[in-house]
Amino acid sequence: MKVIHLICAARPNFMKIAPLYHALKNENWCIPEIIHTGQHYDYQMSQAFFDDLGLPSSHHYLGVGSGSHGEQTAQTMIAYEKLCVERSRPDLVVVVGDVNATLACSIAAKKIHLKVAHLEAGLRSFDRTMPEEINRIVTDSISDYYWTPSQDANENLLTEGVRAEKIKLVGNIMIDTYCMMQERIESRQAYQQLNLSPKDYAVLTLHRPSNVDFTERLRLIMETIGQIDSSFIFPVHPRTRKILEQLHPLPSNIKMVEPLGYIDFLSLVSHASYVVSDSGGIQEETTYLRIPCFTLRETTERPITVTMGSNQLVSIENLLEMIVHPKMGSIPPLWDGKTAERVKNIIKSIM
Ligand code: UD1
Repeated sequence: MKVIHLICAARPNFMKIAPLYHALKNENWCIPEIIHTGQHYDYQMSQAFFDDLGLPSSHHYLGVGSGSHGEQTAQTMIAYEKLCVERSRPDLVVVVGDVNATLACSIAAKKIHLKVAHLEAGLRSFDRTMPEEINRIVTDSISDYYWTPSQDANENLLTEGVRAEKIKLVGNIMIDTYCMMQERIESRQAYQQLNLSPKDYAVLTLHRPSNVDFTERLRLIMETIGQIDSSFIFPVHPRTRKILEQLHPLPSNIKMVEPLGYIDFLSLVSHASYVVSDSGGIQEETTYLRIPCFTLRETTERPITVTMGSNQLVSIENLLEMIVHPKMGSIPPLWDGKTAERVKNIIKSIM
């Protein structure tokens, strides 16, 4: 039996490993092990997703927690290397997305000669001030296998010198997660708990350091949203809450709530009239749901959500004029709920 490590650390990772774990768990040729580095640890940021997505407790929990980039990355490397050397040496390490653990575990694994596959490889914002961009570039410079969500990612990797035979366009794993949970999302009707009606509200999320780490920037965002004639539901990331506490009271059309679990959040988004966000994954989920999304960033590593999907990049300066021109877009190729199956078949063929 081949041992496959599925690395997860922070909120967006849990959605990406879940369909793959479920696709692999009953196979007679492999043992998928979930490695949780512990970067996100609050119930609502971590365990709530394990519960919603039917994941078992992680097989190995590294307990890394919060810290500066250097601290978090270094602690993850130390803990993951120790795990691989002393307790569970895998035949393949699967890292997902672009968080600090993606970088840390791929470096630690390669240094002890393990094979590394990057799921969601090749995305580039071309903005090296984003920590995630550094994580993507470094991970993609040392991985053995590259599984991409869209053709633009293949092209980025080829430009960077990755050999074509190592790159496989597998589609978007986050859409598998939505499809897997669709029935439960559709029956949840999370808007009712907030006394809302479908299409009568918008959803707001913000957690990028460039938007939320500076009080004046966040104040300006809140004031601008305050001028829009919509009610906003704002599930607040812990990183953002710290700064928001200095900005009370918020405009009356913004209702802050705790971070939501996967089913509640997707239920809320699927009945929203539109979304304002700086998230990566939400650009993709709204594209699939054909809900207009206004992304408060200068760049995106997911350009297909703009060229094909319902996403538009906006700034504080143009948000008010852009918001009256929503778009629905269409769904990119291979965002079909069958990505985990494709990845499983690739893994089987390389083991
Ligand atoms: C991380 C990822 C980012 C991803 C985001 C999703 C990196 C570099 N960043 O950013 O790509 O989009 O997760 O949420 O890996 N905190 C808590 N409880 C928790 C987790 C964090 O209170 O369970 C607080 C801590 O004060 C921490 C801060 O939030 O210092 C930021 O958390 P961190 O994991 O460092 O980065 P995120 O902003 O969550």
